[in-house]
Amino acid sequence: MEITTIHLHTRFQVGPVDPRIFGGFLEHMGRAVYEGVYDPQSRHADPDGFRSDVLAALRRLDMTAMRYPGGNFASGYRWLDGIGPRDRRPTVRELAWQSREPNRFGTDEYIRLCRIMGWTPMITVNLGTGTPEEARNWVEYCNCPPGTRYADLRAAGGHPEPHGIKLWCLGNEMDGPWQLGHVPADQYAIRAQQAAKMMKDVDRTIELVACGSCTTGLPTYMEWDRQVLEHISDLADYVSLHRYVGNRDHDTADYLAVTNSIDRQIEEMDAACRFVQARRRRVKRTYLCFDEWNVWYKNHQTDGEGQFAPHLIEEVYNLEDALVAAGFLNSFIRHADVVKIANIAQIVNVIAPLLTRGDELLIQSIFYAFEMFSRRRNGISLRPIVDGPTYEGKTQGRAAFVDASAILDAGRLHVFATNRSLDAAAPLCVTLADRTIAGLESAEILTGSDPKAANSFEQPDVIRSEPFAGVRVKDGAAELALPPLSVAALTFRLF
Ligand code: AHR
Repeated sequence: MEITTIHLHTRFQVGPVDPRIFGGFLEHMGRAVYEGVYDPQSRHADPDGFRSDVLAALRRLDMTAMRYPGGNFASGYRWLDGIGPRDRRPTVRELAWQSREPNRFGTDEYIRLCRIMGWTPMITVNLGTGTPEEARNWVEYCNCPPGTRYADLRAAGGHPEPHGIKLWCLGNEMDGPWQLGHVPADQYAIRAQQAAKMMKDVDRTIELVACGSCTTGLPTYMEWDRQVLEHISDLADYVSLHRYVGNRDHDTADYLAVTNSIDRQIEEMDAACRFVQARRRRVKRTYLCFDEWNVWYKNHQTDGEGQFAPHLIEEVYNLEDALVAAGFLNSFIRHADVVKIANIAQIVNVIAPLLTRGDELLIQSIFYAFEMFSRRRNGISLRPIVDGPTYEGKTQGRAAFVDASAILDAGRLHVFATNRSLDAAAPLCVTLADRTIAGLESAEILTGSDPKAANSFEQPDVIRSEPFAGVRVKDGAAELALPPLSVAALTFRLF
């Protein structure tokens, strides 16, 4: 393959990378909460009932904003069911996933987990079956000092200090006909506007995320966003977008080029925000919150059949999925000026980088991709000019073989590069026009020969990141050869 050059200049800055793009998502779904992060029966349970092995693995990902309690679950959730003494909490019939929800884990357990893990809490209120007033009450419960009804409930439960939750989502995927309480855009917008006003009346410091289009595939795509933004962009700080992708046609080259449409989705949503901003002559800009993203297409088990902690969408991830996960992160970094929050969906067992089986824990391929980026996330995104060979994806159009992003971290430069070729190594040169690359600080690679290769409980180390020795720094630039089907994360020292 011909050489690819990634041209960079420290003045060509996209913007600071918001650490919150390395967020996660914990939903009451399947075995994400129970048998996932919370399992008092496990031999790994800590005094809070949290699984210490799961938390130790998650700590390596250093996630930031942790969205909770859903997802579709949120649209039928009564938050009052999940507080107070555990033995008095009701077990309810849960409709989003047809499961049995005992409410053993609720707001206070979630906050405790966030504090232990250093996560930023991010709560989705119920705007499906719930009322704006219930949403406002939840803010009072979490954020107000004792002295009024809901704050006193929290204090009575042993938490006199407010939880201080700054980030709130105004419902989940309300444009989706599958959503409990789904309504047309204007009705959602009014509901969200009412909730937002009352929530901000309770605590003026909170930030709000309005529901944008949850897929590009619905007929309401963009028109939903326009209407919602027209109503609510004065009160909401962010609009959400979601994306799940998959290799349904068994065409790896095309699948890896999906970054084209992730870039486009971000740019289209930003265009909707800018359109409404211009129409309303507003100075304030609405930013993007990509609060669900991942690969999800192999496992469609979404019916819990009335069970507690059923096995739902326990997707197994392979090498090509890890490269696509890296593609999402590259795209978020390249759009650091507009994407301020992003949450991988989810964190354990349900479409997740981790799987539990009894007391065992398995690390999946996408875990390593996330970890390689998360370790190098601080700094300012630089606009990479990627000059090299391209190919034509069947549905995704023309894509460069090398997908890349870069972050300037004071005297260091982080570069992420994926080789999408199935069979050819990609010779690569990284240059920084106005600075000298002085040396290599660290380099990791994730690769393999079979795009379908995956870890299993029996063979847990098939796909994992490894130190990468093939980087040479010469005459102020870096040279390397990316193996076929690989993603590399590189950190350079600069002069
Ligand atoms: O992450 C699984 C589900 O996918 C979420 O509950 C929902 O928001 C989306 O459709």
